[in-house]
Amino acid sequence: MMTQAYRASILYCLDEPARVGAAAYRYHEEGLLWVENGRVRQVGDYAQLAPTLPTSVEIIDYSGYLLTPGFIDTHVHYPQLPMIASYGAQLLDWLETYTFPTELGFAEYDYALQIAEAFLDELLRNGTTSALVFATVHPASVEAFFTAAQARKLRMIAGKVLMDRHAPAGLCEEPETAYHTSQDLIQRWHGQARLAYAVTPRFAPSCSPELLDVAGSLLQADSSLYLHTHLAESTAEVRWVAELFPGAQHYLDVYERAGLLGARSVLAHGIHLCEGACQQLSRTSSVLAHCPSSNLFLGSGLFPMRRYQEQGIRISLGTDVGAGTSFSMLKTQGDAYRVQQLQGELLEPMQAFYLATLGGARALALEQQLGSLQPGQEADFILLDPQATPLLAQRYAQSQSIADTLFMLNLLGDDRVIAATYILGELAWKRAVTC
Ligand code: GUN
Ligand code: ZN
Repeated sequence: MMTQAYRASILYCLDEPARVGAAAYRYHEEGLLWVENGRVRQVGDYAQLAPTLPTSVEIIDYSGYLLTPGFIDTHVHYPQLPMIASYGAQLLDWLETYTFPTELGFAEYDYALQIAEAFLDELLRNGTTSALVFATVHPASVEAFFTAAQARKLRMIAGKVLMDRHAPAGLCEEPETAYHTSQDLIQRWHGQARLAYAVTPRFAPSCSPELLDVAGSLLQADSSLYLHTHLAESTAEVRWVAELFPGAQHYLDVYERAGLLGARSVLAHGIHLCEGACQQLSRTSSVLAHCPSSNLFLGSGLFPMRRYQEQGIRISLGTDVGAGTSFSMLKTQGDAYRVQQLQGELLEPMQAFYLATLGGARALALEQQLGSLQPGQEADFILLDPQATPLLAQRYAQSQSIADTLFMLNLLGDDRVIAATYILGELAWKRAVTC
């Protein structure tokens, strides 16, 4: 039996701070996490828990560090790693100029595997332990990703992109082929180890109505599958969708008509939504993945988080690399704060932390397994060093509270803050240099 315990300051959410306030989280300044066979056995105060441990349990001392659940990135593109931070374009020309040419390379398994490995390295060194991931249209890109994720025992959700128009021929396929190829991948990977499959139509402009129907049929066949797509990211895109689908009431209606909405549907962005779309999202329990870094980088617009929360829309957080320019969910929380500031609103640090951990788990229907370090949950957790840089150390000395510490980490921190990442209780990444 593998059993170990970790001594550190420990923070996790049990609920949403924006709804229930301080009752939503637990903070053990002197805490202990006890892990057995890859799962959480107990979590609590060091003084209470340590004397109850069997003598065989080794205690690893991370005093001075903050231990939290691993971050969950609910929208990211692994094939876009090589083209991150590409200059001078907004969504539609960015796709044509950089994204489509890059994605053409993923027909080749060996190349896809090389990028998948680099991508998973980046996730782990940024403290991200699970993600909802776009591959490309090529089945080899999905094979490569799941193979790499499975070898690392990661909990990951991904899928083959569906597209049949408005892109180079090498990225398009017939709806019939898309159906069979997807079915094949679902059979091979969905539910294998910690992996799950997301039906992934790129966005409405890339898909004919027939292809969207294919996505709907795949989803209908198995209620445990996910739906992952983009929605109303830029105003030019919204206008284009209105031209392409004149019969639809609005952008989201295109997806609703194909049967794509529900509690396991995650739609990235959703910045430019009318009232009817908001009601449809709320009614169907679909999730919007807010990707602030991407929205700022592509100049797409400002996500009206407050308005959506008031309408009962489920919200999560994503990096959207490569339109997002950082793998860090800390920086992503900082960007989310900035996006709210630009609208005269605030995002409280504990709410941002919730979105990056338990909120992400809930968005992906994984809250039983992940996100709050509760007994029986999978032991994917990270250690953050609040003094990772000289500036952080100076600021940390002035910290007033755990919320204040979270806030400064979000605004000043990045991958350097992540001292270690554990997957199922095993060390998966450790920072080389500490200061
Ligand atoms: N809309 C359709 N495809 C994409 C993509 O790859 N990235 C982003 N940010 N938006 C999209
Ligand atoms: Zn995206």
